[in-house]
Amino acid sequence: MFKMTGNLKSVLSSPNIQKREKNIIALGGDGIGPLVVNATCNLLEKLNLKGLRIQKMPCGESAIQTHGNAFPDNTRDAVDKADAILFGATEESAIQVLAYLRWGLGNFANIRPIKYFKGMDTALKTDLVENVNYAFVRETTQGMYAAAGKEGKLRKLIRKGLIYETDIQRWTKKATYALRIVSPQATDRIGRVACDLCEKRKNEGIGKGLLEIVCKPNVLRLQDNMFINRIKKIAKEDYPILKVETYIVDDFARRLIRYPDYHDTIVIPNMMGDILSDEAAEIVGGLGVAGSGVYGSEIPYFEPTHGSAPAVLDRTNYAGEPVANPIATIISAILMLEYLGYVSEAKKLMKAIENTLIGGLYPKSNWKFLPRDAVPTQYRKEGKFGSTEDVSNKIYEEYRKLS
Ligand code: IPM
Ligand code: MG
Repeated sequence: MFKMTGNLKSVLSSPNIQKREKNIIALGGDGIGPLVVNATCNLLEKLNLKGLRIQKMPCGESAIQTHGNAFPDNTRDAVDKADAILFGATEESAIQVLAYLRWGLGNFANIRPIKYFKGMDTALKTDLVENVNYAFVRETTQGMYAAAGKEGKLRKLIRKGLIYETDIQRWTKKATYALRIVSPQATDRIGRVACDLCEKRKNEGIGKGLLEIVCKPNVLRLQDNMFINRIKKIAKEDYPILKVETYIVDDFARRLIRYPDYHDTIVIPNMMGDILSDEAAEIVGGLGVAGSGVYGSEIPYFEPTHGSAPAVLDRTNYAGEPVANPIATIISAILMLEYLGYVSEAKKLMKAIENTLIGGLYPKSNWKFLPRDAVPTQYRKEGKFGSTEDVSNKIYEEYRKLS
């Protein structure tokens, strides 16, 4: 199941496209996870896609309550037999669940598209936002996450001869360390997925063939220069059509805001990608419209970039209904449909989201079907926006109109 090389054909599209049945396991998880995943599953059921089967399984805090385990054995068995996973979010037990979905299955390439939908309310008041359409390719298994359980006291490093007693004096005894691990193989495989995606975007006329490598080589001289040099070499040798640029992460964080419509395919280490993809989501209107897919194995998983958002769970609209925006999860499902070979349906569903959100330009007549993030501040204060179900029903209605 675990693949060491990132090759677009095997990573971004299912090896089982020809199979008659495609089995999806939906893992709602915690917080708003079940709400947005259920709304997305209902929508997918209504689309009536040939061969698509969806089964819901427990994970996260609720699974601890019912099964004594955040990732119960029967959930794992179902996941192992699935063609793809639709995942919501988890709270405290996130790492336990992700441990299986990322390291257990071998999903290492987190693709996070950042696309502006006309009608969304964004904090960045510039026309340039209209043209924002790029993608992060974030590594998900290495860096600070590779040894997440191995943080410790500095004393341990003295015993191992890695630092000296004098260093401890400088930092005090209470100081701790964390490890950041990056392997050449993991760098190459994420580099290849990024090059493949960049080439695909160029061929489809979405991107301009620009690969942006982002990390911190001026401080992490060994690791991040390796990251840059190996990916540059892969691009040069195997993807000569691509233009490659490299950026230092702090400068790049600024550029996302300063030059919002410049970017194309951004390849970035794990934690830096986690942070910048949240920043970038805000440029196009927030985490409510930020979907993602994590690829690498034959069982990739698709999840909204947002987490369990307990505060949003308490929020309701004028009718007292739950209002978490399902669009990030529906976009994740679109990536899943593309992966499984439902390409024209995926395109249509994206168009249906566009046609729904464009209503944000005329909130007076459309607010009942719009997510909270697409209505003006005054409307938000008055609870004048759609519920989770209202939004997904509207998307379905728009989808049907396209048929
Ligand atoms: C994400 C999340 C996770 C991560 C957390 C929940 C561990 O922030 O998927 O973006 O950091 O990878
Ligand atoms: Mg995150």
